[in-house]
Amino acid sequence: MSTITVASGQEPVLKLLNVESAYGPIKAIRGVSLQVRKSEIATVLGSNGAGKTTILKTISGIIDPRKGSITFNGQDITARDPAFIVQQGLSHVPEGREVFPLLSVRDNLLMGAYTRHDRDGVARDIEAVYGYFPILKERAAQDAGLLSGGQQQMLSISRALMANPTLILLDEPSLGLSPKLTKEIFEIVVRINRERGTTILLVEQNANMALNASDYGYVLENGRIVMEDTCAALREKDDIKEFYLGMKETGQRGERRWKKKKNWR
Ligand SMILES: Nc1ncnc2c1ncn2[C@@H]1O[C@H](COP(=O)(O)OP(=O)(O)OP(=O)(O)O)[C@@H](O)[C@H]1O
Ligand SMILES: [Mg+2]
Repeated sequence: MSTITVASGQEPVLKLLNVESAYGPIKAIRGVSLQVRKSEIATVLGSNGAGKTTILKTISGIIDPRKGSITFNGQDITARDPAFIVQQGLSHVPEGREVFPLLSVRDNLLMGAYTRHDRDGVARDIEAVYGYFPILKERAAQDAGLLSGGQQQMLSISRALMANPTLILLDEPSLGLSPKLTKEIFEIVVRINRERGTTILLVEQNANMALNASDYGYVLENGRIVMEDTCAALREKDDIKEFYLGMKETGQRGERRWKKKKNWR
């Protein structure tokens, strides 16, 4: 088998082709094809249960797909071991954050760097994430379980950065956060993309934030991509305005239901 072919020109960094994943009899994603280009932020929008988390888990090797293929930097990573995939430069920020509550903030960050052997680089990256999220520096010695939800989200993103990835998968960073904190976190995500050139695949229910932060977007319904375009174009589409941005223009709701948004605090 050929080894890594470095992505160049228009060749996407990440490519999914007809990927299907299931939990026993439940088909969660049904033939998903999508691409993420180098240094862009791409987003997958979808409501509860659409299959967003399943897409990310399948990419990062937590779930093996039943069908289809996943290519990262020209290398086939379909159904590879999660540790191998992280080593290729692909980090996953899981839904619901999942920090290690009994470890200090600093030790959580070091856990993100466990595959690295460049001590100087790790020290530099710790300072870099403290630059993005100064609160983590203040709380460096404190147990991560004592952080607020928003701070834990910051830590979770930072832990992913500690692996020095070229691509980050970001699962609903807005989950459970106030609009103000969501905005702050999205601003940092965009900065990370612009300043470090890190490519980002973001999945979100918060279409407004995601479409503003991202370059290219996909809409996922019941495990299928039903629409894709630049985010600028998606923002202008009536379906998106009505179902995802809450700008209802007609008196009647369509066939599809917009499921209840998650609560925030
Ligand atoms: N561990 C599991 N076992 C069985 N079914 C699952 C499991 N995880 C997810 N599912 C089902 O797979 C489908 C897709 O779920 P997924 O978690 O990918 O959706 P999602 O788009 O991330 O939703 P949310 O916005 O609520 O996080 C849903 O029907 C869900 O019930
Ligand atoms: Mg999810």
